[in-house]
Amino acid sequence: MDLGIVEVQQSFEEEVCQAGDAEELEKIRVRYLGKKGKITALMRRLGQVPPEQRPAIGKMLNRLKEHAEEVLASRLEELKSRLSEERKEKERLDITLPGRPFQIGRIHPITLILEEIEDIFVSMGFQVAEGPDVELDYYNFEALNIPRDHPARDMQDSFYIDGEVLLRTHTSPVQVRTMESMAPELPVRIIAPGKVYRRDDDVTHSPMFHQVEGLAVDRHITMGDLKGTLLLFSREMFGREREIRLRPSFFPFTEPSAEVDISCIICDGSGCRVCSETGWLEILGAGMVHPQVLEMSGYDPREVTGYAFGMGVERIAMLKYGIDDIRLFYTNDLRMLK
Ligand code: FA5
Repeated sequence: MDLGIVEVQQSFEEEVCQAGDAEELEKIRVRYLGKKGKITALMRRLGQVPPEQRPAIGKMLNRLKEHAEEVLASRLEELKSRLSEERKEKERLDITLPGRPFQIGRIHPITLILEEIEDIFVSMGFQVAEGPDVELDYYNFEALNIPRDHPARDMQDSFYIDGEVLLRTHTSPVQVRTMESMAPELPVRIIAPGKVYRRDDDVTHSPMFHQVEGLAVDRHITMGDLKGTLLLFSREMFGREREIRLRPSFFPFTEPSAEVDISCIICDGSGCRVCSETGWLEILGAGMVHPQVLEMSGYDPREVTGYAFGMGVERIAMLKYGIDDIRLFYTNDLRMLK
């Protein structure tokens, strides 16, 4: 008697082969080995088999049942390990990818020039002093001989916080602050680099720019000391062959006062577009500290003299790097900063 064992085994194996996950395998298990399963049903029918065939068929059925249990278990293992392999593959970090390069920043050209200016003056014995960007009207103007109604105020229109407080228009207030804190000690020899602010805005003027102030006070200081110091500075900064010239000028806080030019670094003095055919380029304002400023700051002008200068750092950076628009320093265009 044939119970259809072979067919049941075949269909079982086909179904197991096609099962894609544990859930399907479980359904197959119920379909074949569950209470109403096909293999269970075969076993129930063993009683109908003639007694002489029963032991053999019973054995076959037992083997089939064991076989089915083994196949299901090993298929389940196989599916599990395939699943975890797939997950591992998905989560794998591909360390063979090349890294993304970091964009390395650079020092801003204005900072570079400031550091260079500081190094030159420090090597000549100057110390670096600082003052506040938000300044009192007194230090920015009054103590520098520029009273309220003085026309020199018009040249440095500023940003006022209130009637007495403003964003400093130049670094010259640091002269007064330094002398006030040091008097009557001698000598005074400082430079004061920093930001200054004016209501200016075009290709050569920025509303925020940098100056470096210089101040030397001692007995017997002369205009010759000023000129010698600035000549040395210009040659260190722009090359050994530079010449300088002093043109008479006016600042309320120096007397006499001068604008200082260097021989043009493009044409060496023969005349070109950059120096407007004059052969000279203006780099700073300077002069001998006005006796009244010395006195207001605590020094006796009958005993001591001093010189002071103030240079525009952007102007110097433009000359040194050949930049023709001051606004390029502050628009943060990476092509320019690189
Ligand atoms: C002064 O500011 C004086 N305090 C300089 C001084 C100091 C004279 C000590 C005597 C003794 P002036 O306004 O000329 O002077 O400015 C000095 C320099 O700052 C100029 O030569 C120029 O290079 C620069 N400068 C002035 N305004 C601007 C601006 N808006 N943008 C960029 N640079 C400027």
